[in-house]
Formats: sequence, C-alpha cells, structure tokens
Amino acid sequence: MNKIRAAITGVAGYVPEYILTNEEISRMVDTSDEWIQSRTGIRERHILKEEGLGASDMGAQAVENLFKKTNTRPEDVDMLVWCGVTADMVFPATANIIADKVGVKNAFGFDINAGCSSFLFSLITLALFIETGKYEKIVLVGSEKLSVYVDYTDRATCPLFGDGAAAVLLEPSTEGLGLIDSIAKVDGVGRHVLHLKAGGSVLPPSMETVMRRQHFIYQEGQTVFKAAVSSMADTSTELMERNGLTADDIDWLVPHQANRRIIDATGSRVGLSKEKILINIDKYGNTSSATVPLCLWDFESKFKKGDNMIITTFGAGYTWGAIYLKWAYDGTRNENKI
Ligand code: UT7
Repeated sequence: MNKIRAAITGVAGYVPEYILTNEEISRMVDTSDEWIQSRTGIRERHILKEEGLGASDMGAQAVENLFKKTNTRPEDVDMLVWCGVTADMVFPATANIIADKVGVKNAFGFDINAGCSSFLFSLITLALFIETGKYEKIVLVGSEKLSVYVDYTDRATCPLFGDGAAAVLLEPSTEGLGLIDSIAKVDGVGRHVLHLKAGGSVLPPSMETVMRRQHFIYQEGQTVFKAAVSSMADTSTELMERNGLTADDIDWLVPHQANRRIIDATGSRVGLSKEKILINIDKYGNTSSATVPLCLWDFESKFKKGDNMIITTFGAGYTWGAIYLKWAYDGTRNENKI
C-alpha cells in the first residue's frame, strides 16, 4: 500500500465584522496611511469588538464553516487542535472550549503555541497522527484575538496586528498528496526581542505590571524583520533542494503575513515570480496563527489537485520552518454551500 500522508481536504475562515482602517489608527497615534502601507503593506485589519468574546468564538465560527463546507459531522472528528498565542484562558485549553461550542464529543485535542509558527508546527505534528493510520479526521484551527495585547498608543506595533480565525480538515491520502516534507526550528535567543512581558508565571499580573504597560506586545521590529527574511528563505530553499525542486516546480508560496516587505524579500530570495506568492496582509494584518490558513481560504479557488506548495512561517521564540505539500483537490471545496 502507498504511504499514508496527511492532506488538507478543506479550509474555512472567519473574521470579525469590525474593520480598523489605517485612517482610524492615524487618529490614535502619530502615523499615516502612507507610512503603514509602504512600510508594512497593511491597509486594514479586522477587530473583535464585542465584550466577552475571545479566540474560541472566532475559532468555533471557522470550524462550523469548515463542517458545512466539507459536509463533516462533528461526531466523526477524531481530534481537534487549536493553535495560537491568544488562548481564551491560561487553562483549560482553547481546543476544549471550541470542541464544546461546535459539538465535537468523540475526540481528543489540545493547544499548540509556537508564536506565529503555531499553524506550521501544528500541521507538522498532526500529520504524524494521520500517518499512523489511526486518525482519519483531524481539525486544526488557528484563531487570534491579538487586539487585546496591542498597545494602541505605540505606533511601532499597533498598525501591525489583527484578529481572525481559520481552520483546516486533515485526512489521510494514499495518492501521494498532502504533506511531503518539512523543516521546523526553534531558537530561544529570539525571546528577548518579541514577547509579552507580564501575565505568565515569571511576572504575574499586578497593579504594577498594568501601570508599566507590560501586558502588551513588545517587539524590536528591525531585528525580527531581518531574522524573519533569512530564516523563511533559508528553510524554504533547503526544503526545495532536498526534494529536487526548482522555483519552476513550485506553484504557490504561502508565507506568514507579518510584513509585505518580508514576504517580497523572502519570495525573491527563493527565486519565485510574484504571481506565485500568496499575499492577503493588506486585508487582515498579522493574525499570527491564522495567517496561513486565512491565505489558503482566500486563494483556495485558484488551487488544483497536485499543486506543489511551500508554506513558510517565522514567529516569536524564535520559531520558524517550511512545509512542502501537494494540494489535494481542485478549486473551492463546497459540498454543502454556506
Ligand atoms: O509575526 C512575528 C514576526 N514579526 C515581524 O516579522 C515584524 C518585523 N518587523 C517589521 O515588520 C518592521 O520592523 C516594522 C513594521 C515593525 C517597522 O518598520 P521599519 O521599517 O523596520 O521601521 P523602524 O522600526 O526602523 O523605524 C523607522 C522610523 C522610526 O523613526 P526614526 O527613528 O527614523 O525617526 C520610527 O519611529 O519609522 C518610525 N515609525 C513610524 N513612523 C510612522 C515606526 N512606526 C511608525 C509608524 N508611523 N506607525
């Protein structure tokens, strides 16, 4: 029998209604639409405004959309995993909360946090479960409410991040489709330049941490920028070389969406022409674990069965890597119109 591989057999997303434009941000801090668009490529981002809602609510919407689109019954799901950095609570796991909200009862699941590489690391991990032959339907959902950790008085970070969610269905394929190879790396040196200082076990929340504004994203932008370009380009190139692939063999590059200039620099180092590089940062900003599945969702109609795809990400930690996969179906999967 042919090797069992993990194929993405459906994708669906959800973004909250409220759109925060560059113009609105320009009224909060000393910036401009021109600066934000030219330095980051971001035009707008979606924000979850309603009180009392969190990452699980957007994640559950994405999973429900996925179920409708792929005609999947919640009771048939073997495993549901949430990935991201903005969990509803420190515990229990957000996967449990989403499973409850969407009616998944016969499954197990857990959370994976690898910064903006959460989705990539989760895909690599869950592919191993599918490859055992024991698991047939795995739901992976990335959802983020980053707006709660954004300091809207800091012009260096507040234009960058947005809220949103997207989910994929993973199923076994014996046709040579799905995840073929991957490289994933971590380097803790990066923890100093991109993190959230307070709220964890080292520096628990207190009046002082709030007064010092330590519950917001801290980032040394230029350092992270340089590391992101070289790491995503190097791992994508290494992965292509060891699979005997040239730029001509690649149909799509799906990069983490943190900055348009990072994406362009990565694409040109890998040697890919612009039309093969998927970009939707203009609409959503950086949604961390949701960037890659939101990209797959937005561009799904263009994909064909057997397309060669490289997914590459870089995030807090540092965490980074690349996946080589063969796409498993033609066009938009919509067995049950939503
Ligand atoms: O997903 C996790 C990984 N994260 C990333 O990959 C993000 C990586 N970093 C970046 O995307 C970029 O570094 C930023 C977008 C954060 C910043 O862009 P930059 O081109 O690296 O700007 P910079 O930090 O070098 O700042 C250049 C200038 C500074 O002014 P001076 O010191 O030259 O006078 C900043 O104060 O731009 C200023 N600046 C702004 N000006 C207007 C910074 N933010 C703004 C702003 N509007 N929003």
